[in-house]
Amino acid sequence: MEKPLFYQLKSVKALQTHWEELKTKHLRDLIQDEARNQKMTIELANLMMDYTHESMDVHTLELFRDLAKEAGLFEKVDAMFQGKPINKSEKRAVLHTVLRMSKDKKGPVINGEDTVAEVHKVLDKVFAFASKVREGKVVGFTGKPLINFVVIGIGGSYLSVEFVYEAIRYHEECKKAGKGFTLKFLPNVDPVDFVRVTEDLNPEQTLFIINSKTLTTAETMLNARTCRNWLWERYSTKISNMTEDRKKIVARHMCAVSTNLKETKAFGIEDENVFAFWDWVGGRYSVWSAIGILPLSLCFGPEIAKAFLAGGEHIDEHFRNTKDITKNLPVMLGLIGFYNTHIQKMESRAILPYSQCLHRFVPHIQQVSMESNGKDVSIDGVPLKEPTGPIVFGEPGTNGQHSFYQLIHQGRKIPCEFIAFAQPIAPISVPGEAVANHDELMSNFFAQPDALARGFTLKEVEANPAVKEYERPYKVFEGNRPSLSILFDEITPFSIGQLLAIYEHRVAVEGFLFDINSWDQMGVELGKVLAKDVRELFKGDMKTKDVSKLDMSGLKNATPPMKLLIKKYIQKRQKKA
Ligand code: F6P
Repeated sequence: MEKPLFYQLKSVKALQTHWEELKTKHLRDLIQDEARNQKMTIELANLMMDYTHESMDVHTLELFRDLAKEAGLFEKVDAMFQGKPINKSEKRAVLHTVLRMSKDKKGPVINGEDTVAEVHKVLDKVFAFASKVREGKVVGFTGKPLINFVVIGIGGSYLSVEFVYEAIRYHEECKKAGKGFTLKFLPNVDPVDFVRVTEDLNPEQTLFIINSKTLTTAETMLNARTCRNWLWERYSTKISNMTEDRKKIVARHMCAVSTNLKETKAFGIEDENVFAFWDWVGGRYSVWSAIGILPLSLCFGPEIAKAFLAGGEHIDEHFRNTKDITKNLPVMLGLIGFYNTHIQKMESRAILPYSQCLHRFVPHIQQVSMESNGKDVSIDGVPLKEPTGPIVFGEPGTNGQHSFYQLIHQGRKIPCEFIAFAQPIAPISVPGEAVANHDELMSNFFAQPDALARGFTLKEVEANPAVKEYERPYKVFEGNRPSLSILFDEITPFSIGQLLAIYEHRVAVEGFLFDINSWDQMGVELGKVLAKDVRELFKGDMKTKDVSKLDMSGLKNATPPMKLLIKKYIQKRQKKA
């Protein structure tokens, strides 16, 4: 018998049938049931998740158990941790979890090597290098200490690192350890990004880190060459032997994190400045490798980076070993995600951290989730007739409240995920103010889930004498909008590691339930191929005045209207030139 697709599973159909019944009940009534509510929280040492505000009842939880079983969820989780080649289209293991395993542990063996031992060899090299740079023992071409670090990279080689950096930089220990150092990011090939990053930079005190798994990403490599050239130009008056000194400048001011050691050499990076990782680490999961650990260690020192890794490892153990789905945080988050997306047919998901420190969390999770689970074919290559992962968006609270929450409250139904920290990262209170600034923020965090669930009925509106009669229909909120809340004790490098690992595993769980390959990203390739054709055209004669004479035969894949648009672009480019 053929293996059923995810939407053909008996347990999925049972969930659908149950939902048809359950949807007649309003969430404001469901959340009155204390016995139900008690089953819908998960507490770990320093954090908790409350999913009482999801459109679920106790029977839904039983059906979740059936689904986890029928989808072989824990078998798939184990296969991942064991290093089985679950990335079927690329025949690779998926082992970013090994990157955060402690040194004393044994990992899966790949190519005859223990993966944990391999990881720690590189980590030791990263920590030693970062310490030397921070102590001024590794210096720039003119002997000055390197205090400005610039990550050149895009996608997973950038977003993840920027998220963690922004999240922890105001933590007390990070503030202290990071004093005197700066970390910047150069992702976009838009030349203004290069200008933005380098405008206040002293080349003599700058270390560039080329972050690229493949070292073939066009944007990253052009930016890397642009930075190398900038160094050479800025140093031009201090150079005596052009070839030798240029080599030395690259050796002193550029390092790389990559799996492609042939290309790092070809670029001119000294072996001692190259930090390897492995094809069993997906780009969007690579912050735990030298991709993230090198910049974080340079900026904050190795101890902070180690605490971040430990947070990830803590969640890995919880995820792998907690077999009761109602107690397993990433599993429950994944099941709820699947339920909201597939059963309730809600196409989007809002992630709403009530912390400005997390302002780069959602952009990173967008990639983790949408690049992993935006697929239209099963893991076995069978086309799917139902969509898979949701559209993810979000903003920190309360900023989002003053922008798109209107639609969430009175427009479409979008499941929301609220994230917050009990302790303020900046404990500010203004004398004479009724509450501390952080408590003001948090009062909103607690208000929103109830507002979404309860709504505001016509009866309630009518009972309010301040509302004029003609205003009444506009003031009604249907409510019945699901959400969940995650509350941490405080932001630390450890808790940020936990948060990221929770969301990575939630995406994995959703992918396992959809039975897709969450580990490849074939959908991004076509655009890259077509861009190559256009780039070839631009390499040719951009100065041909009569664009009708342009040889566009190389643009084999471009459509007629796109060829016209390209011609227009060339004309417009010529105007200024
Ligand atoms: O184009 C998508 C992608 O391959 C992502 O998966 C990846 O994070 C990013 O580009 C950068 O890739 P690399 O690290 O190889 O430069």
